[in-house]
Amino acid sequence: MTAGNQEFKDKTALITGGARNIGLAIAKDLASKGAAVAIVDICRDLETIPYSLSTTDDLDKSIAELTALGVKAIGETCDVRDENQVRSAVAGVIKAFGHLDILVNNAGVISLFPINELSASAWNEVLDVCLKGTFFCCKHVVPQMVKQRYGKIVNISSVAGLRGLGLSVHYAAAKHGVIGLTKALAMEVADHNINVNAVCPGTVESPMLDGLAFQVDLDGDPYEHFSQGHLFRGRHITPLDIANAVRWLVSDQSRFLTGTVISIDAGWSARG
Ligand SMILES: NC(=O)c1ccc[n+]([C@@H]2O[C@H](COP(=O)([O-])OP(=O)(O)OC[C@H]3O[C@@H](n4cnc5c(N)ncnc54)[C@H](O)[C@@H]3O)[C@@H](O)[C@H]2O)c1
Repeated sequence: MTAGNQEFKDKTALITGGARNIGLAIAKDLASKGAAVAIVDICRDLETIPYSLSTTDDLDKSIAELTALGVKAIGETCDVRDENQVRSAVAGVIKAFGHLDILVNNAGVISLFPINELSASAWNEVLDVCLKGTFFCCKHVVPQMVKQRYGKIVNISSVAGLRGLGLSVHYAAAKHGVIGLTKALAMEVADHNINVNAVCPGTVESPMLDGLAFQVDLDGDPYEHFSQGHLFRGRHITPLDIANAVRWLVSDQSRFLTGTVISIDAGWSARG
């Protein structure tokens, strides 16, 4: 069903970790405004991550929901930690759509450990998904954007990319790294008319919160616990709040924004 604002009618977008939650909200939002969308997702669990990741059923269901919005929508299983899988997924999207205008590096995972209990594999899983995955996707999408002389890249960092967060030196290191990567890449590709920006969510409604609550033996409402830094209390940041920021960043309205960071964190990062 196509109707209303078709601002992204001629645009195509690739969203990683797009089978659910924030990634799916971004994909749906762009699709509802006319973009052809591709979602990729690992569709299996990781050893040290204390909650379930998406499944192939989630991916199929999400592709069906996107297609129902009246746009071309495709998706495939891809682990962003694996450069060969990323190379092949990006090539497939460019083949299917003919061009690739928007990349949203959204795939991310978190676990909570004090540093003395943080294993090398727990460190690697978080760093490899959040940071190396972002690097691989940018590396394989940028040449196409250079060829087109047009591109918009949005990297999903976190409030933990701007400040410390308890029990998560690995996640904070990865998300700070995403911001560094964003700024450096923005400098490198500006001459090719490519914008690179980052979004830092605060605590967003997410299946991950229950898993984290379980990991630290938390009683009570996980959202309330993990959003204690928010200045606005009593209402939740939703995936659509993040999608709204991403939509603006990939639109022409923000054409002079590059190498910058937008926090959708209910004021959390204002605390320093
Ligand atoms: N939910 C929050 O409170 C919050 C806060 C700040 C930042 N973020 C960031 O927002 C992004 C999305 O988070 P979310 O809340 O939607 O989480 P989520 O767990 O609901 O979704 C993440 C998606 O990424 C996929 N994924 C994980 N590893 C992958 C890999 N190696 N390759 C491809 N896909 C992979 C998962 O299967 C899942 O579908 C993440 O980068 C996360 O770090 C979330």
